[in-house]
Amino acid sequence: MTTNADTRRVLTDTDSFVFPVDVSRRATTGAQPVLPRLRPDQVARGLATFGSELALACAAWEGGAEAEAMTVLRAPVARSTTDAVLGPLATRDRDRVAELVLAWVDSLGPVIAADRPPARWSRVRRAERRARQGLEGALADLHVERPPVAAVELAAGVQVPIAAGAWLLVLLAEHPEAAELAREHGLAAEVAWEVLRLRPPTWVSARMTTRDVTVGEGRVPAHAVVLVSPLLLGLDDAHVPPGTSHPEEFDPARWSGTDVRPGAWLPFGAGPHACPGRSLGLAQLTALARWALGRRVTLVTPARIDQTRGIFPSPARLRCLPGPSPVEE
Ligand code: HEM
Repeated sequence: MTTNADTRRVLTDTDSFVFPVDVSRRATTGAQPVLPRLRPDQVARGLATFGSELALACAAWEGGAEAEAMTVLRAPVARSTTDAVLGPLATRDRDRVAELVLAWVDSLGPVIAADRPPARWSRVRRAERRARQGLEGALADLHVERPPVAAVELAAGVQVPIAAGAWLLVLLAEHPEAAELAREHGLAAEVAWEVLRLRPPTWVSARMTTRDVTVGEGRVPAHAVVLVSPLLLGLDDAHVPPGTSHPEEFDPARWSGTDVRPGAWLPFGAGPHACPGRSLGLAQLTALARWALGRRVTLVTPARIDQTRGIFPSPARLRCLPGPSPVEE
């Protein structure tokens, strides 16, 4: 799908377009549960945790040591999302669940990256099953309702924001002039949106048609795979403010002083299965941007795109030094 309208149609018409597989590449059975959006109090709790955990995780790194972008953000994001979705929890329980979520997310990596869905008794599938059961068991012990659903919600809310945050650090490091401009004008939210435009971690999503359907000008037969891509839409002139730099440029300032609201490229999806954690994801990214703009983050070697599960930067070795001044709220 190459337009906002056709993409919305695919994501919204859930009778005609269904998920072909679930998060661990098993064939889906029946309608997928629709999750409620995180409430403002959940977002506020997750954001508070993100701030304190980011400060902790980065204390050593800020002295000039090298760190991998995806690693630095693991604990802050996992604990923040766990607190938002399940909290308030005792710190020990929260940290244990966050660790188990990360373990499941890690075990899903080779399942998602494999050319074909791995067989039921393959080594990677068994490891993934063990990790998932460990997480679901811990959730049941905490009396969380519907542990399998909560486990998916947590996993979806950890891997993607870690990747988005890693891209944020990388793009700021790659574009010191844009970073300086953003710092001077306090454009943290604009940085977050520009990162989600140029490097949406979920760069492509698939649906399968249940019947012959007409979308826009074209006919799609039943049982065909349809792809939607926020990455593709975000590079379209139609989705950036007119008169601003080329859509391929990283230019957070394009979003300041304009009536055009960011997001027409649908980085959080649309319809009943749009991201229920979008307010938290955006809040985490904006807080990270504010933190990074107050420092000098540099790349040790050029970062590369890994597209084995969504897109994330790897390797992306960064160094962080004190910056000129903190960024205003
Ligand atoms: C920057 C951060 C994030 C981005 C870019 C993002 C992006 C997305 C996108 C594009 C989808 C839809 C995928 C599709 O339609 O195939 C989605 C779904 C989802 N997201 Fe997020 N997300 C983010 C953060 C979060 C957070 C913090 C949570 C925490 C609860 C979360 C939980 C979920 C869940 C559970 C789904 C599946 C919804 C469903 O299938 O009904 N996400 N996300």
